[in-house]
Amino acid sequence: MASIDYESKIPNNVNLSDDRRLQRALEHWQPRYLQWWQEMGPDGIQEKDVYLRTAVSADKDGWAHFDYVKMPDYRWGIFLSERDPDRKVNFGDHIGQPAWQEVPGEFRNTLRRIIVTQGDTEPASVEQQRQLWKTAPSLYDMRNVCQVNVEEGRHLWAMVYLLHSYFGAEGRDEAEELLARRSGDADKPRILDAFNQPCDDWLSFYCFTMFADRDGKFQLHSLSESGFDPLSRTCKFMLTEEAHHMFVGDTGLERVLRRSAQLTLLDPSGDARAQGGIDLATEQKFINFWFSYCLDLFGSEISSNAADFFAAGLKGRFMEEKNYTEHTALGQEKLVTLFKDGKFVDESVALRNAMNEVLRDDYIDDCANAVRRWSKAVKDEGLDFEVTLPSRRFHRHQGIYNGAFFDLQGNPISEAEFNARKADWLPTDADKAYLRSIMHGVYEQGKVANWIAPPRRGINGQEFQYEYVKL
Ligand SMILES: [Fe+2]
Ligand SMILES: [Fe+2]
Repeated sequence: MASIDYESKIPNNVNLSDDRRLQRALEHWQPRYLQWWQEMGPDGIQEKDVYLRTAVSADKDGWAHFDYVKMPDYRWGIFLSERDPDRKVNFGDHIGQPAWQEVPGEFRNTLRRIIVTQGDTEPASVEQQRQLWKTAPSLYDMRNVCQVNVEEGRHLWAMVYLLHSYFGAEGRDEAEELLARRSGDADKPRILDAFNQPCDDWLSFYCFTMFADRDGKFQLHSLSESGFDPLSRTCKFMLTEEAHHMFVGDTGLERVLRRSAQLTLLDPSGDARAQGGIDLATEQKFINFWFSYCLDLFGSEISSNAADFFAAGLKGRFMEEKNYTEHTALGQEKLVTLFKDGKFVDESVALRNAMNEVLRDDYIDDCANAVRRWSKAVKDEGLDFEVTLPSRRFHRHQGIYNGAFFDLQGNPISEAEFNARKADWLPTDADKAYLRSIMHGVYEQGKVANWIAPPRRGINGQEFQYEYVKL
C-alpha cells in the first residue's frame, strides 16, 4: 500500500516531485495556507503540544502514528487512496468507459463548482470552531477539536490539489479564493449558509460533527463513486478522516445526554440545570436545529443539477457500486411528497431528478441509528426519555418545504403557531447564553466538566487521564 513521502516540503503519495510545475504551484500556495491557519486556526493554542494522529500510509490502517505535534507543524499534505488501473465509470450515461484521469471538457465547469463547494466547507469549519478549545470539557475533548481542525485543513489541501492539477489558471484562482473567504464575513462569506454560523459552544460542536460532518460523509461517498478518478481517490481518503469527526460528534452527544439523565435523576425536582448541567429538553432542541439545518445541505428534493451530475457520472448514490444493481437510474421514479396550497400531494419524480432526496434518505437512516443508541444510553441511566429526530419537513430553508411551517411530526401549521412553539422546539438565545455560562475549560488531566460524562475510553488506547494537550 502506498506510503506517504514525508521528506518533501509537501507530504504526498502522488509523486509530486515528478510534476515540477504542480509542485512549484503548490509550494507557492503553502505559505498562504499557513498564514491563513495562523490567522484563522485555533486561537491561542498554536504553540502547544497536542497528541495528534498523522496519516503514514494511504490505506485504512495508515493511522498508526500518534505523537505530540504543534499544530502549525502538522504535516498537511496530499493523500489519495490507491489507484485501480482497471476502474471504470460505474453509473450514468458513460457506464463502462475507463474512469477519467483528466477532466472531460464538457464537465469542467460543473466539476470545478462541485470541488470548490466541497472545499469551501473545510476551512469554514475551522474558522467557526477557532475559539472552542478554550471551553473544552476535558483535555481529551480539547485534543479532539484540534484533531478535527487539522484534518479539515488537510481536506482543503485535498481539494486544492485537484484544483491546481486539473483546472489550470481558473483552479489556481479558486484556490486563492478558498483562503480569502471567511466564515460569517458580510463581504466575503463562505458559500453554504450553515458554514457561516459561529460554533461557540460544545453542544453545537458535537451536533456539528454529528450532523454536518455526516452530511460530508454522504457527499464524499457519492463523489467517491465519481468517474473522475482523482476526485474519487481523494474522497475515499478523506472519508477515513471524517469517520473520526463523526465519532467525536456521536459519542459527544451520547456523553452529554447520559450526564443529563444522571443529573435529572440526582436532582430532587428532576431539574438537570439546577445541578449545573444541561437538561434533555435543551439537548433535543439543539438536535432539532442541527438536523433540520443539515438536511438543507443536500439541496432541493427535485433537482435538474442532481440529474445532470448523475448522468455525467460525476456524483453517484451512496454506495452506488456496492448497493445497487442498476446504474443508469433511467425509467425509474421516486415518490416525493409535495406541499401545494396547504395540501400534501404525492408526485412521481424521475429518479435522476430525485438524487438529492435519495441521498437525504440514506443520511436520515444513518442519523436515526445514532438516535436509537442515544435513547438506549439515556434509558440505561434509568430515565425514560426518547431522543427523536424531527420530520424532514420541520424548519427547512431549502427545497419543497421551504416557506411553509410544520411541527416536529411534519404536520402543517400556521406561521403564528410555529412562532408560538418555536422556543420549545429550537434553541433560544437564553439556552445558548446558559450553555456559555456553564462551559468553562477544564484543563486538568483526568478531569471532566460537570455537564458531560467522561468518554468510555481514551484515544489510541491511552487512558482518559492521559495528557492529551500540554498546556
Ligand atoms: Fe472535511
Ligand atoms: Fe469533518
